[in-house]
Amino acid sequence: MNYNSLRIDVLTLFPAMFQGPMTESMLWKARDRGLLDLRLHDIRDFTTDKHRTADDIPYGGGGGMIMKPEPVVAAIEHALIDAPPGTPVILMTPQGRVFSHRIAVELSRHERLVLVCGRYEGIDDRVRQLLITDELSIGDYVLTGGELPAMVVIDAVVRHIPGVLGAEGAANSDSHADGILEGPHFTRPPLFHGLSVPQVLQDGDHGKVARWRREQGLRRTWERRPDLLLTAELTEDERYLLGRFADEDSRRATG
Ligand code: ADE
Repeated sequence: MNYNSLRIDVLTLFPAMFQGPMTESMLWKARDRGLLDLRLHDIRDFTTDKHRTADDIPYGGGGGMIMKPEPVVAAIEHALIDAPPGTPVILMTPQGRVFSHRIAVELSRHERLVLVCGRYEGIDDRVRQLLITDELSIGDYVLTGGELPAMVVIDAVVRHIPGVLGAEGAANSDSHADGILEGPHFTRPPLFHGLSVPQVLQDGDHGKVARWRREQGLRRTWERRPDLLLTAELTEDERYLLGRFADEDSRRATG
């Protein structure tokens, strides 16, 4: 296996949910090339009773069921065999820190990751206290379990493993890669339903194309996600452009 490969162990009560998303397209390619070693573990396989019980009623009453600690801890310990010290053990939960491009890049640099998918009302908190090193949310809404969030995290992380994406460094020009959004993209034909591809792209002067793309990205960010501009690293020229957008806006408002 390539030294850059990433092994991800996923602990879930529903491993079948991962069929499809994890066997198609880029993720399949990453696995086929030996860059991603994805291992799914059914938490129920770590139960010890004949009914394979993975959940129980909550202490103190209230609705819903809680995932029992024993099988989850056994599954995590199994996944951590031979893992390097510092391997993240991540619980998917709406209470976690909000997942982002920056976190995806950071996680892609590890050799191993363990993702724990919660179900029901949650996991017995002692699992978190004992073994969880990080908790991630994919947004401020509640899903029925951590499986879809785990797939989101895997997809976003795997794109940053060197060699996974076709064009070298393609992930570097993604929206969010440098703190701002990407501008629009076009392919042939040059004229479609009366709309033409911007002339600068058709001319193909690489310097001008790069400048145009940066400007379009900045414009989109200005219009859609101005909050990102508070933290984006911008050149003096780019700050000047933002000033121009602001002038255009105020002229439109007063015009
Ligand atoms: N489990 C349920 N909802 C979730 C969310 N928004 N993010 C991560 N895990 C979750």
